[in-house]
Amino acid sequence: MLTAMTRDEKETTVGRGTRLVHGARPPYVDGRRPVNPPVVRAATVDFASMADMAAAQQPGSAGAQSFTYGVRGTPTGFALEDLITDLENGHGTKLYSSGLEAIAAVLLGFLHPGDHLLVVDTVYAPVRQLLDRFLHERGIRYDFYSPREPDLARLLQPTTRMIYTETPGSVTMELQDIAGIAAIAHAHGDVLVVCDNTWASGYCYRPLEHGADLSIVAGTKYLGGHS
Ligand SMILES: Cc1ncc(COP(=O)(O)O)c(C=O)c1O
Repeated sequence: MLTAMTRDEKETTVGRGTRLVHGARPPYVDGRRPVNPPVVRAATVDFASMADMAAAQQPGSAGAQSFTYGVRGTPTGFALEDLITDLENGHGTKLYSSGLEAIAAVLLGFLHPGDHLLVVDTVYAPVRQLLDRFLHERGIRYDFYSPREPDLARLLQPTTRMIYTETPGSVTMELQDIAGIAAIAHAHGDVLVVCDNTWASGYCYRPLEHGADLSIVAGTKYLGGHS
């Protein structure tokens, strides 16, 4: 069964296309299942016993999927997360209600006062407002770099904690050498490489395979079938 295989086994026995076609299918119950995951909408979750509740609330890795309260996700959302994880060849996906919210969560969640951030100049424009209105007042400094910068290493500062990039970039479509950026960032120490992968989506490009630490995709675009 596909679902019982480890990631390595999956790589060797089924092709990527086959895996994606079969991804996010619900489990068989009594030998049958709906083809697409049923839509589960919920607020408060009722547990059959205290033991079941305690098991569901076990602290797992940050952002681990557990159906404990509707706003934290339901099995429908978790199925989509798993599919995107496969599409991006990653290790875990977290859904947000918009792409910009995901970007804000990454910037505000991983950066702290005193940190410095490098941002590609072709960044999706509203990110500039996020930087200006939310990061600036929290004492997080940032500089933009040209998507054609030949020597990114020279722009790193001792406090740089993140390189935020986008490839292709909005809207002039410069491509970024993610492997090269990751090599520079990781040689410098604890510098995260974050890539907005909205334009390509995991179908065409997978930043994590090239050394990025986080990939962000706005599902409102290519991924959702719109432009
Ligand atoms: C490259 C890129 N990143 C992020 C976003 C933000 O997505 P959302 O509209 O879901 O907030 C967009 C939306 O246009 C985008 O084009």
